[in-house]
Amino acid sequence: MSMATDYKADTIKVRIPDATRGAEIGVHRGKNSADLLAAMPGLRMLLVDPWPHTEHMLATIEAVSPYASRVLIAPTTSSLARNLVADEEMDFVYIDGNHSQGAIQQDIKLWWPTIKPGGWLCGHDYWNPEDPAYKKTQGVCVEVDAFCERTGLPLERDRFAGWFVRKPEDWICEPS
Ligand SMILES: C[S@@+](CC[C@H](N)C(=O)[O-])C[C@H]1O[C@@H](n2cnc3c(N)ncnc32)[C@H](O)[C@@H]1O
Repeated sequence: MSMATDYKADTIKVRIPDATRGAEIGVHRGKNSADLLAAMPGLRMLLVDPWPHTEHMLATIEAVSPYASRVLIAPTTSSLARNLVADEEMDFVYIDGNHSQGAIQQDIKLWWPTIKPGGWLCGHDYWNPEDPAYKKTQGVCVEVDAFCERTGLPLERDRFAGWFVRKPEDWICEPS
């Protein structure tokens, strides 16, 4: 069996193949965003990253240029970009920006209300404790686990440190 190179996009697509609205928080050079846009022709995406390195923003623009009509680029932080999105607008939001525990806690709180009933809040860097990457990103595990415990919602993971929480169809969100 061949190994997919766009593994992050694959594990999102398998959960929500007909997504029309998605966001990536932390885009870097746009690889995952471009993979998602290629995999889902009906998808329109908001790409959020403050891009401290301009070359990474330029690389992103190049990577997503084949899908330009379906992309909104927000060169800013997660918390400022949240103002661009209405509650329950998104089929998925993929959180892969600032991985500090405080930032992850804030991102989950900010972006959960933007998820449609039946949609997914998800992200990267939920590593197992034995993985070398765990030490730097364990705040992701702590905050994702705390969120699942508070809400009673099940956590799904993939083999590549991805985490996924589905909003139930009958979820009642307090307006944010
Ligand atoms: C691990 S990289 C993202 C990789 C990308 N998701 C991918 O799969 O190719 C993390 C990115 O998060 C961005 N970032 C850092 N703080 C952020 C914030 N507050 N809001 C949004 N993005 C942030 C960084 O500039 C960096 O480009």
